[in-house]
Amino acid sequence: MIYINFHGKRGASILPKLLEFEQLKKSHANSSETLLFNKVSAALACHDRIALLGTSGQGKSTLLRILSLLDIADEGDIRLEGVSSKQFDPIEWRMKICYVAQQAVMLPGSVEDNLRTVHQLHHIPYDVQLVNKLLSQAGLEAIDLNKNAADLSGGEKQRIALIRSLLLRPKILLLDEITASLDQSNANRVENMLQEWHRKEGTSIIWVTHQLEQAARISDYVWFMDNHTLLERTSTDQFFEQPETELARRYLQQPADRGALCLS
Ligand SMILES: Nc1ncnc2c1ncn2[C@@H]1O[C@H](COP(=O)(O)OP(=O)(O)OP(=O)(O)O)[C@@H](O)[C@H]1O
Ligand SMILES: [Mg+2]
Repeated sequence: MIYINFHGKRGASILPKLLEFEQLKKSHANSSETLLFNKVSAALACHDRIALLGTSGQGKSTLLRILSLLDIADEGDIRLEGVSSKQFDPIEWRMKICYVAQQAVMLPGSVEDNLRTVHQLHHIPYDVQLVNKLLSQAGLEAIDLNKNAADLSGGEKQRIALIRSLLLRPKILLLDEITASLDQSNANRVENMLQEWHRKEGTSIIWVTHQLEQAARISDYVWFMDNHTLLERTSTDQFFEQPETELARRYLQQPADRGALCLS
């Protein structure tokens, strides 16, 4: 059976709608007159892996923060499995849709206190085996769990924050340049950990990155922001091979510090 899915592509089966947002509008923080973005609409299905791309300042982080209810859109609606965010307790919402920031925020206490937070807050058992597995996959097998979390390096904090989010087993992960401060080897580990997590748990992922090679590896679809909106939503292959807009073509041609693209 042929159907047209949320991305406007032909596919083989009907996937349930997980997250939908329509006509999101946001003005700049310092001026309600200056538009950051407008008419931002898209839908995310279960298991989708999206790379959210665009030059600096397009509002990618702001969009992720709005989707996790850490920020408010001026206009528009967001629905999770058909239920508007307005009908949700924000804490419940953020258990299902987790935002992992580039600048990780550690809670007071030790590394282990941070990892146990989720379980204490939500009264679910602490799975030591899973924690150890994730620490090892993220290259943190030797970390001292009794260490004060505030004393960790930026890259260590980032990985602990990511693992803390995974332990919630959210339906959707919103990842904001989470490997940006890691060396290549640890960035690869984190990528592999998330790929395995996605395969096993089916978590949908929206991942902001400036590294095009990474975007090609970790996504099935690209959402491209430019010109104050979500300009393109297309399959990753098509975006890199034949982007629809001139702005996307120019973006792909920029000799940025994100490295040359290799799709092989
Ligand atoms: N809460 C907010 N409300 C309105 N504007 C904001 C808010 N937070 C940040 N901004 C502004 O919106 C613009 C885009 O910021 P944002 O961090 O979302 O961009 P970005 O696409 O993630 O950029 P980068 O790739 O550099 O991380 C910036 O000028 C920023 O100052
Ligand atoms: Mg950003």
